[in-house]
Amino acid sequence: MSLLRTLLLTTALVAAPFAVQADDRPWLDPKLDPAARADLVVKAMTQDEKMQMVRGYFGTKASWMGFDLPKGALPDSAGFIPGIDRLGIPPQWQTDAGVGVATQRSPTPRERTALPSGLATAATWNRDVAFAGGAMIGHEARYSGFNVMLAGGVNLLRDPRNGRNFEYGGEDPLLAGVIVGEQIRGIQSNHIVSTLKHYAFNDQSTSQSELDSHIEDAAARTSDLLAFQFANETGKPASVMCSYNIIHGDYGCENPWLLNEVLKQDWGYPGYVMTDWGATHSTVKAANSGLDQQSGFPFGKTDWFGQPLRDAIVKGEVPQSRLDDMVRRVMWGLFATGAVDDPVKGDQASSLDYAADGRASQTDAEEAIVLLKNDGGLLPLAKTAKTIAIIGGHADVGVLSGGGSSQVYPRGGMAVPNEGPDNFPGPMVYYPSSPMKGIQARSSATVTYADGKNVKAAAALAAKSDVVIVFATQWAAEGMDQDGLTLPHDQDKLIAAVAAANPKTVVVLETGGAVTMPWLNDVGAVVEAWFPGTSGGEAIARVLTGEVNPSGHLPTTFPASLDQLPRPVLDGNVGNKSSDRNRIYTVNYDIEGAAVGYKWFDKKGLKPLFPFGYGLSYTTFEMTEIHPVDIKRDGLIVGFTVKNTGTVAGKDVAQVYVAGTAWEAPKRLGGFAKLDLAPGESQSAEVTIDPRLLATYDSGSKTWTVAAGTYTVMLGADSDDIRQKVEVTLEKMTFDVRGKWTGR
Ligand code: GLC
Repeated sequence: MSLLRTLLLTTALVAAPFAVQADDRPWLDPKLDPAARADLVVKAMTQDEKMQMVRGYFGTKASWMGFDLPKGALPDSAGFIPGIDRLGIPPQWQTDAGVGVATQRSPTPRERTALPSGLATAATWNRDVAFAGGAMIGHEARYSGFNVMLAGGVNLLRDPRNGRNFEYGGEDPLLAGVIVGEQIRGIQSNHIVSTLKHYAFNDQSTSQSELDSHIEDAAARTSDLLAFQFANETGKPASVMCSYNIIHGDYGCENPWLLNEVLKQDWGYPGYVMTDWGATHSTVKAANSGLDQQSGFPFGKTDWFGQPLRDAIVKGEVPQSRLDDMVRRVMWGLFATGAVDDPVKGDQASSLDYAADGRASQTDAEEAIVLLKNDGGLLPLAKTAKTIAIIGGHADVGVLSGGGSSQVYPRGGMAVPNEGPDNFPGPMVYYPSSPMKGIQARSSATVTYADGKNVKAAAALAAKSDVVIVFATQWAAEGMDQDGLTLPHDQDKLIAAVAAANPKTVVVLETGGAVTMPWLNDVGAVVEAWFPGTSGGEAIARVLTGEVNPSGHLPTTFPASLDQLPRPVLDGNVGNKSSDRNRIYTVNYDIEGAAVGYKWFDKKGLKPLFPFGYGLSYTTFEMTEIHPVDIKRDGLIVGFTVKNTGTVAGKDVAQVYVAGTAWEAPKRLGGFAKLDLAPGESQSAEVTIDPRLLATYDSGSKTWTVAAGTYTVMLGADSDDIRQKVEVTLEKMTFDVRGKWTGR
């Protein structure tokens, strides 16, 4: 053996002990690519360790569980997957959801900060606000000991009655996708995992687990799936949660089209698919269709990804390579978000800055409030008002929130105890942020409250007051759809009686979504405050008194009636008449296809109560100079100018719509920008219209084609109020399924 070789060998041997001791777990090197790290750690795992990674437990001790929570699980939480110390893999502590750290049915819930509802955040049309809100709730999740946040609800608002619309981003794929994607990005900026959910077409609650959604491929890809695609590209969620419902005959969590084809193959998704809680329906079919992790056992009753999966692998029904891929994807998510390199450190909630977090929530709520009507400048409240009547909605003590697994419990306890159902999805939670107290702190008027239960007394109070503010509430919650669009508990009668007694009536809506307003012509002003979160009372007070100029715009159409909808009668076992849980219902989304919301109204020539994108201000804006700037591979760049022509500062949402030929509807939202303008100030802005919003999708070739021809680009204050138009001629361009130019 040559001297040189001997020397080299000796050196290697001498070095080896240090190389091994340095760390024989190379996957823990943060300099390596997450995919490479995932490959390395999977290779180091035993079969038992791999099996451990693909099956999660419910995180709340329930009588029906039949076993104690696994060691290390955080009590009263959504879920838990044990870690693997030997390999440096932390447990996965899972919490709900999209507005903050939720608690599952506990006498001692975690009390944390709640953002306004997801629909409210979409109403801000403000990417930065969405990111900041996600960053805040992700921070509270991390400091509560959680490293997985089950957020990112982006199901398209196809039906205004869906009880979970408040958790999502509205009816348009671009707005919903971008806003929810920014929130996901904010959550994951805390080095924890966020989900994107509920994938897909889980667009109503009624009979959701027996409801088979039908929609043809191209319509699917240009509507619900486009919202998921935009959110995935914007937020890069480490996990996707598949949904309860059936799509084209296969449950969401064993659906090869959605999981293997669209998500993983077409979109190249590198993360992992977890089920919704109890949404697993098989072992072999689910595993081979692209499911990576069963969530929430013993939800779903069967340990599908426990021994049955182990057996299926032994029998060769599920390839070992599939199990390895499942684990690799989970580990990619944990590495890519920093959840391994910067592990959560248990419960540090005592160091949370709730005042700062409350302010982040308030900023969101203030920008979410939509001014729907303001006759005669009734708002902001006149400083000369000597007497103000405040009626209903528990406005003396708090603001309403949505219910279900996303329920965040307020610090300081519930403002209104014992409201709503005792069991899930109750209780009905009001956050102790009183609009009345907020107004009193900003007005010298005498403010008197009436709860509104006695309509005559409320009308009498209204009659002797300078101005009246009626708060109307509509609770929404997981697992239940709205019967219709009418405000519950005869609130329409209350509002009508109060308005008849005093036309200077302001209506404040705290709702889960669109409602009808038979009293609209009789009141002076209306604001939609949604479920405004932890500081919602302050936000409402600041807007009503003019400290904040409202700048929210509707993320969903407010229909004039159910008759205007593609499905006036909801599909499924409405009202739970039959106990036949085995019956499968179908919902035909091909009626409207991709023409969801305003697109349907445009296509059918229907006039809504309030259109998508609508929102007034205490000032006025002028939109001018729309013009094409450039066409690039990532889209059509359009420029325009907005001027504040009023006397107070305000924020405006410039909406850019596009019209092409042979599309699902006359126009699509192509881009938007929120501009903050001082009185008299002009700002020019540009938006880039993604090629997919100018294209038609071809299922055969899986390509998006922008046809050669002339397109109309519009600048609007809402989808029905187009201020400027320009024609743009485009050459034919083709883009792949991910929206990347193919060179042709
Ligand atoms: C619920 C919801 C889902 C939630 C999960 C865990 O049923 O559908 O949004 O994240 O279960 O609570």
